[in-house]
Amino acid sequence: METTEGTLEEALAALSRDAEAELAATSTTDGLEEWRVRYLGRKGGLARVMERLAGLSKEQRPAAGQAANRAKATLEGAFSRRDEELRRAALTQAIAAEALDVTLDGRRPRVGYANPVRGVLAEIEEIFRGMGFGVVEGPEVEWDRYNFELLNIPADHPARDMWDTFYLDQDPQHLLLRTHTSPVQARVMEAQRPPLRVIVPGLCYRRDDDATHSPVFWQVEGLAVDTDITFSDLKGVLASFADQILGCKVRFRPTYFPFTEPSAEFDFSCLVCGGSGIQDGRTCRVCKGEGWLEISGAGMVHPRVLRSMDYDPAVYSGFAFGMGPSRITMLKYGLSDIRALWGNDLRLLRQFR
Ligand code: PHE
Repeated sequence: METTEGTLEEALAALSRDAEAELAATSTTDGLEEWRVRYLGRKGGLARVMERLAGLSKEQRPAAGQAANRAKATLEGAFSRRDEELRRAALTQAIAAEALDVTLDGRRPRVGYANPVRGVLAEIEEIFRGMGFGVVEGPEVEWDRYNFELLNIPADHPARDMWDTFYLDQDPQHLLLRTHTSPVQARVMEAQRPPLRVIVPGLCYRRDDDATHSPVFWQVEGLAVDTDITFSDLKGVLASFADQILGCKVRFRPTYFPFTEPSAEFDFSCLVCGGSGIQDGRTCRVCKGEGWLEISGAGMVHPRVLRSMDYDPAVYSGFAFGMGPSRITMLKYGLSDIRALWGNDLRLLRQFR
């Protein structure tokens, strides 16, 4: 049944030519699917040409059939190659658009700045470790027994007025926020035996709040107990510490603490005014004209304290001190108001990043 449309082979060749040209011009997945339906679908171009096989003679049919199958295989192959090409192009484009560089360093989250006291605490620990002291900590919620009783401050003793205590229970008053790090002296003497050499950094709490007192503050306690510790050892250790941390001098003034005897307060020479009390022709704003800044208390461990820990005062002696790292931070950075260290003011904290 040869018609004006030419032989079946010619029809197949024309169909293949058109199909391949259109396929090359197709650049979207939607377009590709339309192409597939148009040429390879059940009612598509190839199917319509194949319908003509039925009208061919028995002799013509095998060759025409083979030609039709070849054309079908060629078109299907072309389709899947183009499909693959388009997918790959889409992927390349997506990767370029995302521009994700997995080798870039991560961005550090901005969580804030360490308080300058932290840096000073680290320096204090480093210096005392160098002199053979270990670093220990104790609880901030403390028993009356450790905070007072074992430190030779019995209930109702007037010495308790030296500490404005936050009690956590009312009757009996057993539990409190520690008013100093000294209770850890008792905890260490209880848990270990001489020779002892420790410092104890930690937060303390007192019920007062003004320009030079904050209700929460840092202390670093020191304790050394051995068979032959003298006041000279205390002076030597603190003088060496003052020199190492700030390059300043230390002076001692007699005072009273229930748990040391003799007791002293110790001051550091003011770095801001060089100890003269005058800075830029005016009273030094850090030491208030004194030339010295009080760092805290110290002394020889009281024999009663030793005895309450079952240490024989005839055999053992020791020194103890408690210092304020915030004061040292003030001197180091020339701060005139201790409250700045608790203020969370980013303009101050950013300077210590
Ligand atoms: N605990 C005392 C205070 O907070 C300081 C101190 C510690 C004094 C050790 C002597 C010995 O005031």
